[in-house]
Amino acid sequence: MTDIDYDNLLMKIKPSKEETEKVQKLSNQLIKIINESSNELDIPATAVLVGSVAKGTWLAGNADIDILIKFPLETSSEYLKEYGLKIGHKCIQKMEGISEERYASHPYVTGYIDGYYVDFVPCYDIESSIELKSAVDRTLLHTEYIKANLTDKQADEVVLLKKFMDSVGTYGSEFRVGGFSGYLCEMLILRYDNFIQTLRNAAKNWNYGYIVDIENYGTANLFKDPLVAIDPVDKKRNVAAALTLQKMSEFIVAAGNFLHSPSEEYFLLTEYKTEPNIILEQFIKRATKTVLICFKPPKIPADAIYPQIKKTENSIVRVAESEGFSIFGSESWTDENDLAVILIEFETWKLPYIKKHEGPQIWIREHQERFLEKYGQNAWIKDDRWVVGVKRDYMDGELLLSDLMTGKKSGYLKFGKHLKKKIMKEHQIIDVTEYLNLDKAEGKILYFLHHYLNQGELLYR
Ligand code: UTP
Ligand code: MN
Repeated sequence: MTDIDYDNLLMKIKPSKEETEKVQKLSNQLIKIINESSNELDIPATAVLVGSVAKGTWLAGNADIDILIKFPLETSSEYLKEYGLKIGHKCIQKMEGISEERYASHPYVTGYIDGYYVDFVPCYDIESSIELKSAVDRTLLHTEYIKANLTDKQADEVVLLKKFMDSVGTYGSEFRVGGFSGYLCEMLILRYDNFIQTLRNAAKNWNYGYIVDIENYGTANLFKDPLVAIDPVDKKRNVAAALTLQKMSEFIVAAGNFLHSPSEEYFLLTEYKTEPNIILEQFIKRATKTVLICFKPPKIPADAIYPQIKKTENSIVRVAESEGFSIFGSESWTDENDLAVILIEFETWKLPYIKKHEGPQIWIREHQERFLEKYGQNAWIKDDRWVVGVKRDYMDGELLLSDLMTGKKSGYLKFGKHLKKKIMKEHQIIDVTEYLNLDKAEGKILYFLHHYLNQGELLYR
């Protein structure tokens, strides 16, 4: 139905023969090193390759090598953690890579080796989901299931789907994105057989709570998520649990857009112009007031930072609205290291001195008495209800933000757990136009602002 030359396209987005060989060779080498060191150290562990490299579904130039270090079920979690990380580190050292310990649901170590990121994840050697001890154990079963059920042709379809997802901004289950994981893409191809059918079904049939249940387990009623994708290896798990309603909707719309006018552009990352001047003009033209709250993010794992910043952002919006300001939009961003930004765009940011305060109905005589004791002559009646004009707490939205952030009014604000002290101690509140005039606006933050102003841009070509 389309005039896209998919074979040609796949040549560009699938790893080349050289890349495949290089990645496989490196993976084998790493596994051998780990198995040798566990032998030497008399540790009962074996390494196994998992993830998209093992499944043949990775994107060209984008291999992250996932290696599980399996321990027998009876191993204590302390032992697994200590020795799992130890052999991981040892392997990275041997390969002269750079290592970094990270924490997901449990600890693992990442190494940068020969130009590739390699995750070494200690886990339990399980054969079925009944034996699950931690979330990462499932990965083993996933890899086996996909290797056993996905054909080579379908692996290509997965690559198309992942690349499409990536370039329309819906790929990745990490909190930063809240999109589709690689495994979920693989499940969709198993369900719908190919890329086009997946897009067709998403565009035409998906709705809130849509169920993908490849093995017909019938356990979907356990979940209340926008998309329910029952894990073929664990009927009590929704693989789409991390998918936000936002990203599900975006994918459905992008799928429809693509089917309407297919183009190879959908498989390419678009380079957007992010010139400060253009962004500045756009903000000025909107004639709203946009304020940036800038601070240094806490030193916690990336996946923990995003929900906390989001929570703080949502809470600011709620408080501002309850104080009578109207908020046009909000968004947040962080480089995960030095800078986090919460953007608040006000539709109204100046309010009058007085605000209307409603009192009791005149027939509720007890309440009326108390109300009048307090407001007396100033109150008036509207229909059957007392009303009075009182001084409002904040006439200026920016002042409200600054009092919220310094704690003068922070009782009202729900900060993410690790953010409170951090933000209250040091932060900067700056008008976006001022920021853009400062000349220090650069790179990723410009892209963040550009994307805030053009939120649908990734969904069509
Ligand atoms: P990855 O995020 O590396 O996924 O997680 P991937 O399949 O290798 O895809 P790429 O790297 O984006 O190409 C490794 C494994 O962890 C499990 C899956 O089994 C996956 O294959 N996983 C990860 C999940 O089940 N859910 C997730 O949200 C993330
Ligand atoms: Mn991977």
